[in-house]
Amino acid sequence: MDPIARNDSDVRADGELRPRRLDDFVGQGELKRHLGIVLQAARQRNEAADHLLLAGPPGLGKTTMATIVANEMGAKIHVTSGPALERAGDLAAILTKLEDRDVLFIDEVHRLSRVVEEILYPAMEDFQIDIVVGKGPAASSIRLTLPKFTLIGATTRTGMITGPLRDRFGLVSRLEYYEPDELRQIVQRAAGILGITIDSDAALEIASRSRGTPRIANRLLRRVRDFAQVQTSAQVQGRAHSTVTLPIADEALRTFGVDRLGLDKVDRAVLQVVCERFAGGPVGLSTLAIAVSEQPETIEDVYEPFLIREGFLARTPRGRVATPAAFEHLGLTPPERAPELF
Ligand SMILES: Nc1ncnc2c1ncn2[C@@H]1O[C@H](COP(=O)(O)OP(=O)(O)O)[C@@H](O)[C@H]1O
Ligand SMILES: [Mg+2]
Repeated sequence: MDPIARNDSDVRADGELRPRRLDDFVGQGELKRHLGIVLQAARQRNEAADHLLLAGPPGLGKTTMATIVANEMGAKIHVTSGPALERAGDLAAILTKLEDRDVLFIDEVHRLSRVVEEILYPAMEDFQIDIVVGKGPAASSIRLTLPKFTLIGATTRTGMITGPLRDRFGLVSRLEYYEPDELRQIVQRAAGILGITIDSDAALEIASRSRGTPRIANRLLRRVRDFAQVQTSAQVQGRAHSTVTLPIADEALRTFGVDRLGLDKVDRAVLQVVCERFAGGPVGLSTLAIAVSEQPETIEDVYEPFLIREGFLARTPRGRVATPAAFEHLGLTPPERAPELF
């Protein structure tokens, strides 16, 4: 088992740790400022907020932000996803259940089928849908007027959203990776909710090794807590809680295979494959995915963006190449090669 892979209790805890108001949401300053204005204006006019598209790697707070928008508007949220909406009727069934100013959250909105997407256009723009009743020559279409709702789409792939869909969102926002100090605040807030006492430098250590991602920060915090608890109870019988200090956090993270920069087993496997097996690349995405036993989409959405951001990996037209920094991080000597590869 991968010790830092998401398990069931982590998924439940994701919900428990979700901030509920805009003010509790740490970081993403620009998005928060824009949303603050949009939501306040909509409330003053007693209208639904404009449709919102949230893009960015997994775990940065897209689902959280959608629930916050609903809370701030005092509205209900209906949650679905692109792949779950197979047929036109699936979407129509949800749309006709909405009430005024409700939020409809569609996760992985880039994976909507064409037919479903085409129903969404008039629904977003004119709050209308056409429903076909009956079959064959007797079939006819009736137009339904929908309540004014807010569509929030989330995607890990902005590039895969079609132009017409993208254009129908009033606000398009990209979530950025978080700074260590922002993640430290998130870790300390989560520790408070989970009843963990943690030193500020220990929280910063977890934050710095969380790949800029709140979901990972919260997950690492729980692993550090497990480690601290087991260690303490081995020493002092019956005392399961103690303060998480910097040395404990560091030892826990090392035990779980999270290195100084926050790279985990899979990150290092990706770099190792490119550096060692393919002499620094270029390596095609599908070859790379097979070599580390992951889905190409997972490599592209979850691992690669961080490795590229940290300057370990680069994308070239011929495939992925490892930078000298990657060789260095793995303790290897980079090969001599043409600089245009970087
Ligand atoms: N800005 C934030 N402040 C505090 N916690 C956050 C923030 N963003 C995300 N989280 C935490 O990280 C977890 C993952 O966020 P989520 O909204 O599910 O990410 P996404 O939908 O982008 O994959 C949530 O459970 C939440 O506790
Ligand atoms: Mg999500």
